[in-house]
Amino acid sequence: MELTHVFSLLALFCLQSVSADRVKFTSLFALGDSKIDTGNLLILATPDVPVFNNKPPYGKTFFGHPNGRFSDGRVTIDFIAEEFGLPLLRPSLQNNPDVSKGVNFAVGGATSLNVDFFERNKYVNFKLLNSSLNVQLDWFEKLKPSFCKTAGPSECFSKTLFVVGEFGVNDYNLAWGAGKSEGEVRAYVPQVVQNIANAADVLIKGGATYVVLPGIPPIGCSPSLLATRVKLNKAKEFDQLGCLSDVDRVTKYHNTKLRDAIDGLRRKYAHAKVIKADFYNPIIEILQNPGRFGVAGGDVLRACCGGGGKYNWNISAVCSQPGVAACKDPSAFVSWDGTHFTEATYRHVAKGWLSGPYADPPILNANN
Ligand SMILES: *[C@@H]1O[C@H](CO)[C@@H](O)[C@H](O)[C@H]1NC(C)=O
Ligand SMILES: *[C@@H]1O[C@H](CO)[C@@H](O)[C@H](O)[C@H]1NC(C)=O
Repeated sequence: MELTHVFSLLALFCLQSVSADRVKFTSLFALGDSKIDTGNLLILATPDVPVFNNKPPYGKTFFGHPNGRFSDGRVTIDFIAEEFGLPLLRPSLQNNPDVSKGVNFAVGGATSLNVDFFERNKYVNFKLLNSSLNVQLDWFEKLKPSFCKTAGPSECFSKTLFVVGEFGVNDYNLAWGAGKSEGEVRAYVPQVVQNIANAADVLIKGGATYVVLPGIPPIGCSPSLLATRVKLNKAKEFDQLGCLSDVDRVTKYHNTKLRDAIDGLRRKYAHAKVIKADFYNPIIEILQNPGRFGVAGGDVLRACCGGGGKYNWNISAVCSQPGVAACKDPSAFVSWDGTHFTEATYRHVAKGWLSGPYADPPILNANN
């Protein structure tokens, strides 16, 4: 047999063994914050709390209208749903959503820690919406019987993918925004991470097998935090990319702690497939190579939609407020509104989670 034939046979064999291991997920559940919220905050906040993602130009890409997402278009969870031929996830707080293919519990602004932590410690001087991770878990527990109906939990979730997070960005943003020091923010990372790991533990104990746990993106590079810290005169140290070094150190610490916690879950539950999803490096990759992603070099740390200034973010004039315009081509920007990413960025992240290199294992090889 010619050598080329041997190789093509080998290639064929490899392809088959990969596809045989591939789980064809038939349902998808998500918990998280505004990075994957598909409409819950809008439902929860209306009419008492003002929201800004209910007006154009939110949703202008793909959907063509505001739809409860915090982006110009789709977010990571949408690309994951599309990959498996599932409908884009409905927000769980919608009236009687069809839950047969899963539902989205994520709420914009949600924290890992319970909201009373932030109120008690004076991180905020207003009431936070009660939608943190544990509350979302409660919502899931309540919905479980109607999803599982007759099957036991381990059967009923045998082809279900759970995406838990990211969580943590809001916990840290509240702390940084309150002017806390690096040491103070760092000191509560273990609690934030432990709470995420506990939630995954509860889900696995309750029958989940496939759980994706994303880390947090480089929030030291987010235009809103950059602008805020500069204004507070707390931006002392910048890295080569122009991001906030103190924020970045705490961000990396969170991600390391989360990976350790996942190793713990894997030891505890040998049957479960807990996927480490990296939200940090896919963003850094774009910031380091903007040209390769069609992003203008001078714009990497500028929001597409914002009220001006160095980072195109101004708390008095945020995206969707009168007179605040979006850039023409959001796909040429990393950040959409200073805090959230553009659809193009989310697509890059989701692809890295599905096929690698930004997940361990990649979701499409969840059984490897
Ligand atoms: C938030 O909701 C949960 C129920 O999911 C409740 O136990 C808790 O007391 C509430 N917390 C606040 C601060 O309202
Ligand atoms: C921020 O927006 C306010 C309100 O539109 C405006 O008065 C102010 O000049 C803006 N600041 C910057 C730095 O653009």
